[in-house]
Amino acid sequence: MRILVVGSGGREHALVRALRRSPRVSHVVCAPGNGGIARDALCIPVSANDNPGILHAARSNRIDLVVVGPEAPLAAGMADYLDANGVPVVGPRQAAARLESSKVFAKEFMARHGIPTAAFHVCDTAEAAMTVIESSAAAYPLVVKADGLAAGKGVVVARGVEEARNAVRRIMVEREFGAAGDSVVIEECLRGLEASFIVFTDGKTVVPAVAARDHKPLYDNDQGPNTGGMGAFSTDVILDPETTRCVIEKVIEPTVRGMAAEGCPFKGMLYAGLMLTSDGPKVLEFNVRMGDPEGQVILPRLESDFAALCERIAAGTLAEYQPVWSSKAAVCVVLASSGYPGAYARGKRIAGIEMAEEDPSVMVFHAGTRRDGESLVTDGGRVLGVTAIGADLCAAVTAAYEAVNKIRFEGMHYRRDIGATGLRQSSLVHRQSREGVCQ
Ligand code: AMP
Ligand code: GLY
Repeated sequence: MRILVVGSGGREHALVRALRRSPRVSHVVCAPGNGGIARDALCIPVSANDNPGILHAARSNRIDLVVVGPEAPLAAGMADYLDANGVPVVGPRQAAARLESSKVFAKEFMARHGIPTAAFHVCDTAEAAMTVIESSAAAYPLVVKADGLAAGKGVVVARGVEEARNAVRRIMVEREFGAAGDSVVIEECLRGLEASFIVFTDGKTVVPAVAARDHKPLYDNDQGPNTGGMGAFSTDVILDPETTRCVIEKVIEPTVRGMAAEGCPFKGMLYAGLMLTSDGPKVLEFNVRMGDPEGQVILPRLESDFAALCERIAAGTLAEYQPVWSSKAAVCVVLASSGYPGAYARGKRIAGIEMAEEDPSVMVFHAGTRRDGESLVTDGGRVLGVTAIGADLCAAVTAAYEAVNKIRFEGMHYRRDIGATGLRQSSLVHRQSREGVCQ
């Protein structure tokens, strides 16, 4: 089988590595890829947002299946385009991708189908948004979200009226995110631990992946501005079996059924960003693809054939399919460039990756890297995702940070507490089971 992966980040590197493990896969091509993916796949210089270019690459490389990594091409209709041209694809069509490309669509969809989420208002003008913010019913903190895609930066958790007003001004008046700010969602702030729950679906059957947790803020203890994600971990402690059942029953199944009933069946990887509140799990957001960096900890835990899973998603034959997941834990620490998530330097020489990968439990996924002659240099804000697998979360955290210590580039920075909330959750579960609280 010959597979084309679309995208150029750490998620795509993890997708490529998972596909290469399949004995059925003879060739993996990646468009456009990066300096590390080039070691694992044939990288071709075609933009992830170029529909005709991707179709041409699929045809000229005799590709059997295209796996689309990022949301932007899906929101712009890449799956529709490939499908219409007879190329099998993993990823939802444009109408189904609205679950991520429009927060207004997602919230109204959840309201129509009784899916638990934060109480919300949709505002189409800045005046309407200001009225909601100033109404006596507005309780702070309050969350203001740009409707459209904003690379994870269009969400503000406002602690008071002034901060909420500023968010509306930036999004709707100054139009920091362009047309993504035509409307805003203003919603109740939920409290609890977050979880990323991703399922594979062919539009009818749902096959869950293991859960993960992202670390969006830049600094330790969730301080500082939000980023695309500074690290992630995956262990069975994040969602216990009871909560997993509840999420599938109350969130995932109604979403997949509801999308099909509304004439836009969802086929691909559906990501529910959840807040585990004292009232049960509630949806913070939907994404329409594998998470990044979550994919860098979820896919290494997949023991079954990922290519077979992808083939079944595209063919609509997921029924009865049950992949096997490792019970081990995985941790990914993102190494970022100086200045990220603001303007950052490029072209800094990277050393130590081979030494880090001498530990067989370590995988270094590349995000913003490129080859410069014999050297590997930085070429993005998030540069590398250093992932380790361990018998438990503590072992995985230790191995990941030992690997991080072997890697260097000028200005490199990273969080030192990836996995800490999971370690606290694990010790609570152990204590409760010793005390007989959990049966
Ligand atoms: P989103 O892109 O909608 O997931 O928002 C990005 C991040 O903002 C989430 O991962 C949460 O950390 C935070 N967030 C979003 N919505 C809420 C909410 N209703 N309550 C609390 N935090 C939220
Ligand atoms: N890690 C968050 C995302 O993939 O959107």
